[in-house]
Amino acid sequence: MQPHQLLAVLASGEALSGSRLAAEAGITRAAIWKQIEALRQRGVPIESAGAAGYRLPWPIQMLDEQAIRAALPVAVARRLGALEIHWEIDSTSSELQRRGGAADFSVVMAETQTAGRGRRGRSWLSPPGMNIYLSCLKRFDAGFAALSGLSLATGVIVLRALQALGIDGARLKWPNDVLADSGKLAGILVELSGEYQGPCAAVVGIGLNVRLTDALREQAGQPICDLAALAQGEPPDRNRVAIALITSLVEGLAQFEREGFAAFVDEYAQYDALRGVPLRVSSASGELDGVGAGIDARGALQLQTAAGLCGIDSADVTVRRA
Ligand code: BTN
Repeated sequence: MQPHQLLAVLASGEALSGSRLAAEAGITRAAIWKQIEALRQRGVPIESAGAAGYRLPWPIQMLDEQAIRAALPVAVARRLGALEIHWEIDSTSSELQRRGGAADFSVVMAETQTAGRGRRGRSWLSPPGMNIYLSCLKRFDAGFAALSGLSLATGVIVLRALQALGIDGARLKWPNDVLADSGKLAGILVELSGEYQGPCAAVVGIGLNVRLTDALREQAGQPICDLAALAQGEPPDRNRVAIALITSLVEGLAQFEREGFAAFVDEYAQYDALRGVPLRVSSASGELDGVGAGIDARGALQLQTAAGLCGIDSADVTVRRA
């Protein structure tokens, strides 16, 4: 029995004894125990329930490519390139980058990533079965200059997907963190390749927390939160989350290609978590304090400082305590 098969067997949340699992898989109880330990090592919170055996603290849904494909709106399914769901991969974004010839709007998802990447060289912890790790390839004709604002637009695209799932309460922290009251809900990594003034491609990677474990919260090194918290303890089925995200990405990236960032500015403002908030902006050229004053038409952060209004293109932003 492979780890993903064992996780699928435990997915209902019911306790299953080691001997029953061993009999079903045709392997020894010791081999089952080894697989359970391997899943625990990857961050799956499998509990030991005494004589009852092993169980997950909550039911999970394994990602199901057929179910996702079947539920996509026709216009989205028609546009979609490849749709791949891996059990384990280094990084869904790296996988798309390796596929030089992948079709426009190709999507790669994984149950777990062994080398998930965040912004600024950080890693993105990716335990199996809990969250969503998804990357989408979008090709553009007009070069990198036309893509300023793409990562902010992706934040709006994620918020639209949450709205479609009936989940309120998420906001955007410039440039593209998705936050809720208690911490970071999702991260976005946009990586460009190709020609500066010609055909180029963006790999848009999204990590969205559906149900976090205590261990993950401890390891994260910053406050994080999940859809479960925003949905009163009952997060939506992960396949529904995937469907909403893919739909919003395909529609939103096509809109970005047609209309540019201008089409997203007003919506971004609606979700802006930093407007009117005291901020410290850190970049290679030093630190600057001010108050968030929205974004401009290109997506640059506007910072009201003692010396006037500054536009910030790229920096780390922290909220200053009053
Ligand atoms: C951030 O630092 O906030 C960005 C995190 C982006 C994580 C996602 S998970 C899917 C895709 N694959 C990766 O390796 N990274 C992105």
